[in-house]
Amino acid sequence: MVFLYPQTQHPLIPQAHSVEEDRALASETKNFRNQLLLLLQNQVDKISADYSDSDDSESLYRHIRQELDANPEIQKAHQRRSTLQDRLWERVANNIKSDRDRLAREYASLLKIKDKGGLELNAKLDCPRHQLKVDIHRMPGGYLQDHDESDFWTGAIYDSGVFLYGQGWFGGLNDELGHTLINNVLRHYYPEFTPQKILDMGCSVGHSTLPYTSEYPDAEVWGIDLGASLLRYASARAKALDKAVYFSQQNAEKTEFEDNSFDLVVSHILLHEIPSGARKKVFAESYRLLKKGGMMIHLESNLFLSPPTLASRYFRDTEVWVNSEPYLASSKLEDFETYTQKAGFNLEDLEILCVPGYYAQQKGINKKSWTTFCAKKV
Ligand SMILES: C[S@@+](CC[C@H](N)C(=O)[O-])C[C@H]1O[C@@H](n2cnc3c(N)ncnc32)[C@H](O)[C@@H]1O
Repeated sequence: MVFLYPQTQHPLIPQAHSVEEDRALASETKNFRNQLLLLLQNQVDKISADYSDSDDSESLYRHIRQELDANPEIQKAHQRRSTLQDRLWERVANNIKSDRDRLAREYASLLKIKDKGGLELNAKLDCPRHQLKVDIHRMPGGYLQDHDESDFWTGAIYDSGVFLYGQGWFGGLNDELGHTLINNVLRHYYPEFTPQKILDMGCSVGHSTLPYTSEYPDAEVWGIDLGASLLRYASARAKALDKAVYFSQQNAEKTEFEDNSFDLVVSHILLHEIPSGARKKVFAESYRLLKKGGMMIHLESNLFLSPPTLASRYFRDTEVWVNSEPYLASSKLEDFETYTQKAGFNLEDLEILCVPGYYAQQKGINKKSWTTFCAKKV
């Protein structure tokens, strides 16, 4: 089995594509990644055994990094990692191209649905420069590519790309992270908390945003992102799935919402894609936007925050340049306590909870892959 869950079809998923070819690429990527992790682990074990000062873990890691970076077999593997990522985007682009006319028609007819949520775009938005510097994940054109007022293609590329990249681990609708935050954090640790107004920061195409509409049907749900094309797609996709979300093009570091306007402010895998200064601002903005008694919950991957082995740390650190993830390794876990406190929360009101993924857990996989920073505004 290659995909943990099959992709859920909706009108904006390319239909004319070859699932067999997607599967073959996913399988090749999975096998390659397993072999690479094994190779890294074997090399790390060997280098550690020969290293005299292996008690000092930081100097050991620096030494490992130098050795692995200079190893021709590993250099070749890095090239293949990048190539596989580029092939993923190529497949997605081909899939979309082969169904382009139908997708454009579906998008146009979804636009006509007026009574579900909303979409506010701001052509004058001043995008933070850190998002303009590189195409994160080597996605051609990047998250913010937007050619004209009818452009929803960046969103279409992102939606299919995430499914192929995640190999179905994020569920058929790529909504694992929203369900994880709701079911494994909110419902589990804060069962009494019933937010009425919810904001998802860095929502992209709304993968994680939509579950809040089903789980809190009385709530008003907002998603913000920098990318206009992503948001056009998000809005059309939400309508296709019959969900009401208000999407708005805003900078999560400094939004246009008034003080004290939300009960719950969340983000899902936003933090690892922005630099430390921006993380600090996102925490401060979350505090400003929350009503008294409201909660901020930001969810991130453990692999990013605290890789469990030296080999996985090396894998994470090389994602920075192999997979164009410039900010991945730029905050330590304890830095987030500082961001929380500087934002205005009391440190004793912060809980850092590690939880398993919602869909993974349903398949019996209980590994705690996700870390959440939860703080209440008192
Ligand atoms: C990895 S994607 C997030 C995925 C999404 N939260 C989910 O769970 O499916 C990161 C998103 O954050 C957005 N982003 C980055 N910096 C931002 C900022 N300062 N304000 C708002 N959105 C931002 C990017 O445009 C991108 O869509």
